[in-house]
Amino acid sequence: MDQQKIEILLSTSVWNPQPWVDGLSLSEHVSKVHVWPTDADLSNVKALFVWKPLAEGVVTQLPNLKWISSLGAGVDHLMTDPQIPSDIPITRIVDPRLTIDMTNYVMMAVIMYQRKFKLLQENQAKAHWERITYDNLTVGVMGLGELGGHLANQLVAAGFEVYGYSRTKNHIVGAETYAEHGLEEFLSDLDVLVNLLPITPKTVGILNRDLLSQTKKGCYLINVARGNHLVDEDLIELLDSNHLSGAMLDVFHQEPLPENHPFWKHPKITITPHVASVTSPQSALNLLKENIDRLVNETPLLHQVDLNRGY
Ligand code: NAP
Ligand code: GLV
Repeated sequence: MDQQKIEILLSTSVWNPQPWVDGLSLSEHVSKVHVWPTDADLSNVKALFVWKPLAEGVVTQLPNLKWISSLGAGVDHLMTDPQIPSDIPITRIVDPRLTIDMTNYVMMAVIMYQRKFKLLQENQAKAHWERITYDNLTVGVMGLGELGGHLANQLVAAGFEVYGYSRTKNHIVGAETYAEHGLEEFLSDLDVLVNLLPITPKTVGILNRDLLSQTKKGCYLINVARGNHLVDEDLIELLDSNHLSGAMLDVFHQEPLPENHPFWKHPKITITPHVASVTSPQSALNLLKENIDRLVNETPLLHQVDLNRGY
């Protein structure tokens, strides 16, 4: 095996870089892991691993850069950053832990809604015993990729009626699936709409009045993809007019969500602070180490982003 070693630059923003440094340092192909910010000479860095945001001017210090990886599933922070070169491969995290955690979060949200958990908690606060009833639900998943595809399969296994929607036609055993032209039909019968699309120029603002109004009255929204998919004012209008029955939101235009944002106090909105599925270094390092081996051995990197599609 080629024993060439590479230097890596990590920019993890608010995440603790230490577990990444420790794990990467164990690779036989890594000679040094730099952590941004640093005054070190970065001219030999071959790989840049980024969780957002990347400080301006970092890339100009990396003349030998050969590969950039997002440390999450999403790459929107890289796609929208003008300093990111378009001629080197960009990869992202596809990892079983990340996938299962997302499925578990959305399952929790769907089941809490189905089983009227909010009402049960209110009843407990009043020491009120009421055996609620519940119906089976039709759940629609927008985006049938690594995360949405796994979720749709697990929703089928859990006995829900499942619809799926994606850019090209995907097949999920036991679910009705639609490609782009089938959006209206996909939306029309949903009790719950889950968004797991990537952010691209085509999907920014996709959860707007026009689209959300095409759902059945009383539909519940779960947005776990990106805040920029949602038009905030349109959601509030559709909740206040009772077209939508509620929303569980994990992602926001601005994070942390500003204290004065109307979502915080809206009685029909449940908020979580972008924790639906958080990359586990222990698990995701397997993929990064595999790709380091591939870079050194000049074989194609796994889970490359298609720069034309934007995801
Ligand atoms: P992925 O594997 O790239 O899947 C994307 C899916 O969206 C694919 O099915 C794709 O269709 C579909 N799609 C893309 N553009 C579309 C369009 N214009 N119209 C309809 N469908 C479109 O992505 P993933 O790994 O599942 O991740 C999805 C997103 O989840 C990430 O981008 C990230 O923003 C978000 N995320 C959030 C958290 C959190 O904690 N909240 C954690 C991880 C990820 P095709 O199948 O036809 O290609
Ligand atoms: C989290 O939001 C991710 O994209 O992994």
